[in-house]
Amino acid sequence: MNRSEVIAHLGADWTAFEKLFRDALLSDVPLLNKLNESVLSNSGKQLRPMLSLLTARACGGACNADSYHYAVVSEILHNATLIHDDVADESSLRRGKPTLASLMGPTTAVLVGDYWLAKAVSLIIGTGHQLEVTTLFSRTLSDLAEGEMLQLQKSGEADTTEEDYLRIVFCKTASLFEATCVSAALSVDAPEERREAARRYAVATGVAFQIRDDIFDYWDEANIGKPVGIDLKEQKITMPLLGALRNSVPSERERIRRMILDIPRHPEHCAWIHRYVLDNGGVEYASDRLNEYIDEALDALKQLPASEDRDVLEKLVKYNAVRKK
Ligand code: IPE
Ligand code: IPE
Ligand code: MG
Ligand code: MG
Repeated sequence: MNRSEVIAHLGADWTAFEKLFRDALLSDVPLLNKLNESVLSNSGKQLRPMLSLLTARACGGACNADSYHYAVVSEILHNATLIHDDVADESSLRRGKPTLASLMGPTTAVLVGDYWLAKAVSLIIGTGHQLEVTTLFSRTLSDLAEGEMLQLQKSGEADTTEEDYLRIVFCKTASLFEATCVSAALSVDAPEERREAARRYAVATGVAFQIRDDIFDYWDEANIGKPVGIDLKEQKITMPLLGALRNSVPSERERIRRMILDIPRHPEHCAWIHRYVLDNGGVEYASDRLNEYIDEALDALKQLPASEDRDVLEKLVKYNAVRKK
């Protein structure tokens, strides 16, 4: 199932989401509108609003105005974090085009990201579950900041364990998936056990999604619309590298760790470690772990009643194992 088939399946619900998404960002500052437009015109996969609307429907309800609002909140928040992330990562390419930060400088990019963050929060106000949903998304915002900070701290120490890595991944990616799906379930007043199924599905899908993204960073010929090899350059130890380290003897592990610490002075270490990861089963290890999270997500879905929407959620999580961008 490809993206346009999911959108066709969502039909009028998707159209309602798209309209609200555009309207929500309008400003009377022309420069801001122009920059918003440039982000909107190159919109990415929009996976989170898809998950949101599908979850609302699979939890047994028809989407309503709150469902559209929460779907927009998650996509706006996601974009805000990417705009900021490209400043933090000093990345030049996003979705195949130059990043806002590279075109306009970090100050402008931070301000646009701030505007999107604020708009996301304001969309929750006045909805039926504003208190619970504000709690959910504000926790996501602090998770995001904590995840990025922990990542920063760990990259200076080169001692990331798989437990640390999974915490970082939960914070920077899965937490938003969780808020996305749980708010969707709340929008249709789903009972507790369905909300819990949606939560488990979302967290496992989010972790799988980030592992796949981290595998991309080791792809030799990746054409994913953003630079590869960035994680290592920033001394980030992700699942493929953890896998290769697990497959090595302690002395080798220690040698790699020192090489990672030395990357700022010796950027040529990156190419060497990249090769080492590929030659020592790092990508295979990461793929195995990714598949475990996919199985966990599929298991959670069994708690929801059978429906076409549940089938699409199943396809979306399986797509994670094979997606090319
Ligand atoms: C990129 O997310 C950031 C991660 C969490 C890995 P997406 O891959 O969903 O980005 P877009 O919105 O489709 O560009
Ligand atoms: C995910 O991390 C970014 C956020 C969730 C903010 P990455 O830094 O790996 O994302 P990409 O690879 O730049 O999209
Ligand atoms: Mg990045
Ligand atoms: Mg990445």
